[in-house]
Order: sequence, then C-alpha cells, then structure tokens
Amino acid sequence: MDPIGIVRLGDENFEFPIMEGTEAERAIDLRTLRSKTGYIAFDEGYGNTGSCESGITFINGEKGILRHRGYPIEQLAEQSSFLETAYLIIYGELPSEVALKAFERNILSNATLDGKMYPIFEGFHQDSHPMAMLSSIINSLCTYHSEYATNNRKVDLEHFDAASSILMSKARTIAAMIYRKKMGLPMMDSDPSKSYSEDFLSMLLSKPEVPYVDTCGASKALDLFFLLHADHEQNCSTSTVRMVASSGTNLFSSISAGISALWGPSHGGANMAVIEMLEAIHATGDDGTGFIEAAKSGQAKLMGFGHRVYKNYDPRAKILGKSAVSVLEKIGINDPLLDIARRLERAALEDDYFVQRKLYPNVDFYSGIILKAIGIPVEFFTVMFALGRIPGWMANWKEIAENPKSRIHRPRQIYTGHNERNFVKIDKRS
Ligand code: CMC
Repeated sequence: MDPIGIVRLGDENFEFPIMEGTEAERAIDLRTLRSKTGYIAFDEGYGNTGSCESGITFINGEKGILRHRGYPIEQLAEQSSFLETAYLIIYGELPSEVALKAFERNILSNATLDGKMYPIFEGFHQDSHPMAMLSSIINSLCTYHSEYATNNRKVDLEHFDAASSILMSKARTIAAMIYRKKMGLPMMDSDPSKSYSEDFLSMLLSKPEVPYVDTCGASKALDLFFLLHADHEQNCSTSTVRMVASSGTNLFSSISAGISALWGPSHGGANMAVIEMLEAIHATGDDGTGFIEAAKSGQAKLMGFGHRVYKNYDPRAKILGKSAVSVLEKIGINDPLLDIARRLERAALEDDYFVQRKLYPNVDFYSGIILKAIGIPVEFFTVMFALGRIPGWMANWKEIAENPKSRIHRPRQIYTGHNERNFVKIDKRS
C-alpha cells in the first residue's frame, strides 16, 4: 500500500498520499485537500509548498548540496563550460562532442538582431535601468520571431530548439547593446569564432578603434559566473517563469517575466546591493563591525547573506569566493572591497545572530567583486545574473510545456477584507 499522511481536522481524520522524490524528499500530496475537507493550505512565501515535480536541479539546503541533473555543481564548475552545462540543464544529459558543437554553433551564430529592433533601444529614457530594458526587449523578441511564439504549446515546443538558441544568443547581444547605448558607444558585431563569454565581453567592452582583448582570463571567469547561475530550482524568478508558462505563454514572454522577478534586491538585485554595501562600508572607514551590528539590530541587511533554502554555505559562494581571489590576482587588482567582504564573512560566521539563524554567504556575496574586476558596471550586475539564469528558466519552461498534466497555476487566498456591504452613491457618502 502507498504510504499515507493523516491530517486531523476537528474530529475527523483525512488521508493523503505521501510523495517521495529521488533524494528522499517527502511531501504530503494535498491536491485533494479542499475537495475532501473544505480547507486550503496557507503557506505565504511558499516555504513549505512544493509547486511542481522537477527533474532539473536538486538542492539540499541543510547540507549545502547543489546538483544539476545529478551532477554536483563543484564538478561542473571544475570541468564543464557554461554552454555545456546549459545543454545539460535544458536537455537532461551531457552532450556528445558533436551535439555540443552543434549547440554552440546555433547559439554563437544567432547573435545578430533584426535591424528593426535597433530603434527600440533609442526609445528608452537615458536613465532607464538595464533590467527594465532587458525584460522589455526580450519580450519584444516574440514580435520578431512570432512563428516561435504562438502560445500554442505544441507549436512552440516543436520550435523550442530554434527559439532557445535565439534567446540565449540574442539576450547577450541585447545586454551588450543596452550598455553601449547608455555609454554612447557604437554597436559591435559578434564574432562567432570566439567563445560565448569572450564574444560577449568583446561586444560589451570594445572601444571604437580599440577591440577588447582578454589578456587575463576574464572570459573564463565570466563563463564560470554564468555556469554557477545557470539554474537554482524553484526560486522566485524560476517560479515566475513556470507561473507564466502554466497559462500556455510562449518561451520569450515567460522568460521576460522571469527577468522582472529577478530584478528585486531580495533576489538577483542583491549582487548590485552587495557592492553598494561594501563601497558604503569602505567609504565610512568601518572595518565591518558597525555594519554587522546594524544588521543585527534590523537597521540594515547584510546583503549577499542568507537564503530561503540554504541553511549552510551556498556551494556557489565557496567557488566564487576562490574565483574572486584568483581573478583579482590575474588582473593585478588589489580591491579593498574583497578584504572587507572577507572580514564581514569571518565576523558574521562567528556571530551568534548569524549562527543561530543559519545565515551564510550566498551566490551574490562574491560575484560582484568578480564582475567589477572584469570591468562590468554595477548597474549591469543583475543583467549578468539574468544571462546566466536563462538556461534554467528555459529548462523549466520546457518541463511545464512537455507535461500533458500541467495545469494553470492558480493559488487561493485567505480573504481578510470587508464582508458584503451596500454601495452608497457619492453624494450620500459622509
Ligand atoms: N542580514 C541580516 N539578517 C538577516 C539576513 C541578512 N542578510 N537575512 C535574513 N536575516 C534574518 C531575518 O531578519 C530574520 O530574523 P528574525 O528571525 O529575527 O526575524 C531571519 O534572519 C530569517 O530571515 P527571513 O527574512 O525569514 O529569510 P527569508 O528566507 O524570508 O529570506 C533572503 C531569504 C535571501 C531574502 C534574506 O536572507 C535576505 O534578504 N538576504 C539578503 C539579500 C540577498 O542576499 N539575496 C540574495 C539571495 S541568493 C540569490 C538569489 O536568490 O537570487
């Protein structure tokens, strides 16, 4: 007999099946809760709610484990590339050499934008935030590739390979163009003979007459940054992508919504906030102690610390912490922000407030130091996160679209407003 969970409500017991994942994660299957009992489950923030079954990414937050399709993040970071990991996340298996070459070719050769898109970049206000521009322009891809964005699941799935190559590739060109537009720099063509990250840095950072040349491993560091951001289970932006996809919305628009969700400072926007925090600490000459005290008293938040799922070291932060040291060494920068970050980390890990709440550095704590060293402006940090996360969002879109049993996501609520009352005409209102 299948295991069951018993929920007692008043004098009655109700039975619900127990679900178990491949890593022995257990859940009470409450899909029949309301029809059987009249109750709903209340879980604001979804900390205890499984919103889907997924075969993409596994996290054990207590042990600090992150695996994509079964492969530990440490092994992927050491031995794989961003595009190979993207393939793994999207298609479920490591590619053969031939498959990887074809995948890379499709992405690298799709960088050029439709000429009609250029005026869009001109239409934004000069001070527009790059994340606002990115999500809008990614959504506009539907209009230039409407044959891949029909909102007919069967048709959109048939074109998934083409649409996903376009999205991965053009998102990179769009990000570079947003930057160049803001800096008043002319457009740079892509060079498909370069790697994904090197070509991106060249499109982003080349100056007129002075092409960008990577002399100190910046593209390798960026590739690792992208790889480490490629997917992260049912986080806020991925859940948003799934929510939007659940109504049958096409790939481009679903991912545009994910970009908006990522923007906030509690999510991807934290990588900007970390550097702003470190710079503010540096400016005041505080060794970090004052800031830690402010965080403990609720006057500030230690950005880049804490996580809904990790109650241990975020494995990505460990890898990025090491990478930050080596990137700064190779580039020959002595960034005082790295010392401040290290001091903050040491102080926080020994402090009861952080220990009791199990607050550890997360992926955003060191990533900004790497991006800054590479020459990426702070305002673009969350855009970098978005470029890295696209494979994960696409894999989740595909998983929803391929599931014949997937239903539109439609949570319920506990209503706390007024009871029914009678409408009073405006001239009779006191
Ligand atoms: N600094 C100081 N105190 C904190 C922090 C922090 N960074 N994070 C959590 N706490 C405290 C919080 O005040 C609460 O204390 P108390 O129990 O006394 O009320 C306790 O720890 C539990 O925190 P929570 O807010 O219930 O945790 P959450 O799971 O709702 O939020 C979080 C997770 C990541 C939003 C939060 O830790 C945070 O805001 N961290 C800083 C922002 C950040 O680095 N975000 C990036 C997350 S990782 C990348 C990503 O997902 O994009």
